Amino acid sequence: MTGRRVDRSWALYERALEHIPLGTQTHSKAARSALRGVEPCYIARGKGCRVWDLDGNEYIDFRNGLGPITLGYSHPGVDEAVRRRLDEGTIFSYPHPLEAELAARLVAWIPCAEQVRFLKTGGEAMAATHRLARAFTGRDKVLTCGYHGWLNSTGVGVPAATQATYRALPWGDAGPYEDALKAEPIAAVSVACAYAEAERGDPFLAELRALTERYGALLVFDEIVTGFRLDRAGAQGYFGVVPDLAVFAKGMSNGVPLSCYAGRREVMELAERASISSTFGGDTLGLAAAMAVLDAYEAEDVVAGLWSRGEKVQQGFNQHCARLGIAAELRGLPPMAQWIFADDRFQDFNAEVLKRGVIVFSVCYPSFAHRAADLDAALAAMGEALATLAVR
Ligand SMILES: Cc1ncc(COP(=O)(O)O)c(C=O)c1O
Repeated sequence: MTGRRVDRSWALYERALEHIPLGTQTHSKAARSALRGVEPCYIARGKGCRVWDLDGNEYIDFRNGLGPITLGYSHPGVDEAVRRRLDEGTIFSYPHPLEAELAARLVAWIPCAEQVRFLKTGGEAMAATHRLARAFTGRDKVLTCGYHGWLNSTGVGVPAATQATYRALPWGDAGPYEDALKAEPIAAVSVACAYAEAERGDPFLAELRALTERYGALLVFDEIVTGFRLDRAGAQGYFGVVPDLAVFAKGMSNGVPLSCYAGRREVMELAERASISSTFGGDTLGLAAAMAVLDAYEAEDVVAGLWSRGEKVQQGFNQHCARLGIAAELRGLPPMAQWIFADDRFQDFNAEVLKRGVIVFSVCYPSFAHRAADLDAALAAMGEALATLAVR
């Protein structure tokens, strides 16, 4: 386990802080000062379920890029598809045929999708769905559940008038949504699954479906994490509830930037009047990667693989906790369960598994590239890490 040093990582991180606020573009990737000397601030490369940091240390990774890596890093099929496009050009002054080809495949895959359009990040695609819902209903207010990306947040720097058009409500109980829908005109109810309580999607999402229909609001599913993970078609596939609009991103292209918003034709057709347009939406790298991802999911039951790998980690971790008497649990549905520790001890656990060559995140993201031996090794490291917590 020991002998790992991350000095080069931390030295570069200190330098990066001079030029980059937070040292990185993604809040959840920022190094934590409490994990100084343990956390690898920089990953230099990845293959399968393993990554190597700037100092050359190897890890079994359960962060997986914060969710997008479902097939494993440097997946041969995805990489080859991207390389082919690099040889022929990646963006043109007219669309590449891949736009139409991928859209047709996604329409066949995703229950709510009569039409599909592409962007680059999950957050901007969520913003597109909110704009479409407002254009369609002529109403401003959106009820949100969960994180939808920085564009759709409230807080510092967001005009008060914009903030007033959002209201965040909790996951799992349709009551507050019914009250809000009754009280004023609502354009959309926009929902991302809560990780630790995801199973409450039944009956919650069906109840939201009925309520939005009754009150003339649109139902939007944020499938950015659930898509290509919980089910090929995300929460709508898993829970059998069809929203009006949905957004897919992360797992759709195994880490190559691409997002899509999809849904009912009459709503999607407002995209032109609503001026939703992006220079890079149709770049061929993301589209080619997504085509290769769909091929991989068609060739093998990747989703079943994510479930079985997630179940193994969940059961193993929870057994360690029970054996050691530690008040912690990996809770939720196995492809995206969340670590819940009493007494804020997740960070201690995080440090101890890092020392033993395992990277974790608040959500445990198994990938199809985790083989049985990788999971056994990771669970052994987790058991040792938990044992150090038990004696503190
Ligand atoms: C559920 C959910 N929605 C939206 C987003 C935002 O996506 P992006 O960071 O690609 O804008 C994220 C990102 O982590 C997410 O997890």
